[in-house]
Amino acid sequence: MVKKRIKIFDTTLRDGEQVPGCKLNTKEKVKIAKKLETLGVDVIEAGFPTSSPGDYQSVQEISKSVKKAIVCALSRAVEKDIEIAANSLKYANRARIHTGIGTSDCHIRYKFKSTPEKIIEKAIYAVKYAKKFVEDVEFYAEDAGRTENEFLAKVCENVIKYGATVINIPDTTGYCLPEEYGNKIRFLKENVKGIHKIVLSTHCHNDLGLATANSLYGIINGAEQIECTINGIGERAGNTSLEEIVMIIKQNNSLNLFTNINTKLISDISHLVSESTGMKVQANKAIVGINAFSHSSGIHQDGVIKKRETYESINPKDVGIDQSSIILTARSGRAALAYRYKKLGYLLNKNSLDLIYSIFLKHADKKKEITNKELKIILQKLNNKDKNKVLHTTNNSGRRINVV
Ligand code: KIV
Ligand code: ZN
Repeated sequence: MVKKRIKIFDTTLRDGEQVPGCKLNTKEKVKIAKKLETLGVDVIEAGFPTSSPGDYQSVQEISKSVKKAIVCALSRAVEKDIEIAANSLKYANRARIHTGIGTSDCHIRYKFKSTPEKIIEKAIYAVKYAKKFVEDVEFYAEDAGRTENEFLAKVCENVIKYGATVINIPDTTGYCLPEEYGNKIRFLKENVKGIHKIVLSTHCHNDLGLATANSLYGIINGAEQIECTINGIGERAGNTSLEEIVMIIKQNNSLNLFTNINTKLISDISHLVSESTGMKVQANKAIVGINAFSHSSGIHQDGVIKKRETYESINPKDVGIDQSSIILTARSGRAALAYRYKKLGYLLNKNSLDLIYSIFLKHADKKKEITNKELKIILQKLNNKDKNKVLHTTNNSGRRINVV
């Protein structure tokens, strides 16, 4: 069966940059945009140009430097926003305007103090207006997660009639359960006239830690595009993280899906985004956290040393990390200690290993982690006590090995 391609719409530079304390200048944004293009994303949401002159300038500069990917600018369903978005995109090879309006009862009643009928009129007007400037118009139904499916279908049908090329179904508040979100996408696929002419997109927030699961259920149920960010940064608890959803698709053949992402570049861009934004990645974050490929308990270390797959389902090389790390802590066993000494050039016999292990444990109980430098000091101290203990010899490749 032929695999279906899922398009990756990256919004690190728009939804990601909306995070408190995260501010990027134009130069940093252009650098990230270029890396995103090399990574293989299909769409780069470069900003919300009406929000500030700086954001306008960033979208404009990104439009000049990005060649292959679609460059997208956000706007509300407001003429002025749409005009500014169109202007900021004038140098783009492939431009998209992303316009839309809130469709949930809560947004209609309290944010717009309006009616469902008027919201549909505004949605149609925004799409028609954006089409005057660009062919590619994406419509977002903000708070679609809490929008009644029948009304959402009506909104979608109308914007398709007036030329929307992509429809985004945001779970703006991270409200949905995966099955519920998946059913919503399926409902639209089955009930909206013209839905097969357009690309249906997921845009999930992580308020309950379900953003990635919801996006996954979205594509399983027929969505063709995922909106996501590097390291999952974004409003409040963040957005679907690109690295998670892309690796889920890559690792699971049974999904019969693929993306154009060069996953070997994931670690590199994760560092760049974290350093430029000042948003640290939590240590246990899937795929890109510092602990994602680190092993510290003795049982796991012993397994990984014997065969990596015993405790890793993802090959770190697939995401651009050279190898998994064995961290020496008080939970480590002899196997890990011997392994690390071997890497340093010392082969330990059983007696030496037992002796060094007991010294190592005393140190490790007082510290978080034992470094190579400390391992060498332990050895040196032992050597000083017994000068004949370290024997120098060579291994098969002629490299000098110290046998203790
Ligand atoms: O979360 C959301 O609803 C959004 C839209 C503006 C696309 O970010
Ligand atoms: Zn969002």
